[in-house]
Amino acid sequence: MRTHQGRPGLPRPGIAFGGDYNPEQWSRETWEQDARLMREAGVDLVAVNVFGWAEIEPAPGVHRFDDLDTVLDILHAHGVAVNLGTGTSTPPPWLTTAHPEILPVTREGVTVSPGGRQAWCPSSPVVREHAMRLVETVADRYADHPALAMWHVSNELGCHNALCYCDESARDFRRWLAERYGTVDALNEAWGTSFWSQRYGSFDEVLPPRHVESPENPTQMLDFRRFSSDTLLDWYDAEAAILRERSTAPVTTNFMVAAHIDTQDYWDWADHMDVVANDHYLDHRLPDPWGELAFTADATRGLAGGRPWMLMEAAAGAVNWQPRNIAKRPGELERMVLSHVARGADAVCFFQWRASRAGAERFHSALLPHAGTDSAQWRSTVRLGGMLDALDEVTGSVLRADVALLFDWQAWWAADRPGHPTGDVRYLDEVHAMHAALRRAGVAVDVVRPGDDLEGYRLVVVPTLYLVTDAAAAEVDRFVADGGTALVTYFSGIVDEHDHVRLGGYPGAFRDVLGARSDEFFPLQAGETVSLDDGRRASVWTERLEARGAEVRARFADGPVAGSPALTRHRYGGGAAWYVAARLDDAGRQDLVTEVLADADVPPVLPGAGGDVDVLRRTADDASYVFVVNGSDEPFVAQVKGTELLTGHDATEHHVAPGDVAVVREHPQDSRPTSEEDA
Ligand code: GAL
Ligand code: ZN
Repeated sequence: MRTHQGRPGLPRPGIAFGGDYNPEQWSRETWEQDARLMREAGVDLVAVNVFGWAEIEPAPGVHRFDDLDTVLDILHAHGVAVNLGTGTSTPPPWLTTAHPEILPVTREGVTVSPGGRQAWCPSSPVVREHAMRLVETVADRYADHPALAMWHVSNELGCHNALCYCDESARDFRRWLAERYGTVDALNEAWGTSFWSQRYGSFDEVLPPRHVESPENPTQMLDFRRFSSDTLLDWYDAEAAILRERSTAPVTTNFMVAAHIDTQDYWDWADHMDVVANDHYLDHRLPDPWGELAFTADATRGLAGGRPWMLMEAAAGAVNWQPRNIAKRPGELERMVLSHVARGADAVCFFQWRASRAGAERFHSALLPHAGTDSAQWRSTVRLGGMLDALDEVTGSVLRADVALLFDWQAWWAADRPGHPTGDVRYLDEVHAMHAALRRAGVAVDVVRPGDDLEGYRLVVVPTLYLVTDAAAAEVDRFVADGGTALVTYFSGIVDEHDHVRLGGYPGAFRDVLGARSDEFFPLQAGETVSLDDGRRASVWTERLEARGAEVRARFADGPVAGSPALTRHRYGGGAAWYVAARLDDAGRQDLVTEVLADADVPPVLPGAGGDVDVLRRTADDASYVFVVNGSDEPFVAQVKGTELLTGHDATEHHVAPGDVAVVREHPQDSRPTSEEDA
């Protein structure tokens, strides 16, 4: 487990509730009304000035703070704390007009125009100088404001500008490479440039991976991703340093742990945050939006080192940026929120407080909708505030999982490049599928960075970890040797950190621990399926595997490698390592996971948990809390020695109706007051 010593942590006791508040879009008369309504709904934390630059610095060096001053004073007078944006997310038009060289350039060489948001190059010294001056000014002015609870650096760093291919970025990339490799020979070695006449004579010849017509150099791409993530992290650090010099309030920025964003290696970023915060929107483009939510929440807790984290943005209703923006049905908002809180969120915030009437996001939902307070949305906002108040005592409690799932952004970058045995292996599909199978088996899962200490877990799942360092592979080895159980899936351990193939047979780094070896991959045609001799079915991937010490649990019954092992289990030291050499279908994966959980002796959180019923437990020193999120069509009876229902409808039998949620305190607390006594 990762530790984050010395972090100030979340700003207040109790579950913070609120969202982005953009008063600059509204008249002064609205502000008082907003604050009153926030109070009515139980909102106690709002993010302001997130896109404030053009408002507070309307011309170079000219600052206008009277509106923001007033807003902060009004909020404070109403007991609403402020998550204060530094405002640097989008430069104002005067800056892009005076300095068009700060605009980002795409891979194809197209200069991004201002007029949307985040049109700035992360390597531009010009935009950086202006932005840092703004941060200083904002920090000087508000560090001691009584409403200030925390700092919100920029916004979703890298959402639209993570990868810039301009000349300034090219220079910066070369500097980064020179630091990483020291000599151009070392770079040539790492990039494998003894190939297609790519050998560089000096760092000056190196470019970002701009548009090419042929296949690209995979390591150049990989390093450019690393560089780009580091560059924005460096920007964050620069803002944070200014804030920390002037203020003791916690500093963070909102992460985008999501299926459609892969540009930041948040494992590297996490330790730089005083509080880990994530933005999450149910993504109805995915086959399993709720499964993705659960994975993301577990990953965010992993980034937080197991400590409580913030849900910084979510949608109270629909978003406006998917092809079809699906509104929430009755009960979905509560299920969404508790799915996060059960997984460690101690703050629940939304984009946004009041729905905009103009601008690109005017059809995005909000806590206070266009229809005003006479609306189902407003009533559900008020109900949600009440539900979160009743849960205040869960803050600070933590979730303990017996299962770790290894997940890595760098492996994702490398795995999804072209030029592989098949384009049908998508890293995140396999990660999501394995996580979903574990969740549907009713167990809690920690999402862990490869290489982190695995001690204390019973099962470690390694889905398609194509790129893995020697050290991370050795940790899996050690974990199994010491008595743990591992489940590794196909196309894992194939390359090292330079994306160089590990020789001697697949799955490279995991051959020894798995006691199995392949000499050739046999991916399947689109739509083609094969059978295993235990009745399971698979698609996408097969390989010619040979057991070298492992026990063969199933063989391919047909297809290109009929007769070859498909599923193996290897006793290794005190533990066991399973390998599955194919992409199983959902049913086959589900019962494999059940079998492996039994092998590792991991029971569900409660009897009957799993399927569409999420059951998770958060534990504190003197109490524990069972969360039930019933997404199924059947009632769920929570068999807890439970005493008190904090939220939910039937207090006596812990019956959780279809679609409903419940939180039960399992053991009475002697030392702490109950939430009722608090009130
Ligand atoms: C986030 C962003 C917000 C808002 C929201 C809409 O990506 O941080 O400013 O745009 O999406 O869903
Ligand atoms: Zn650039």
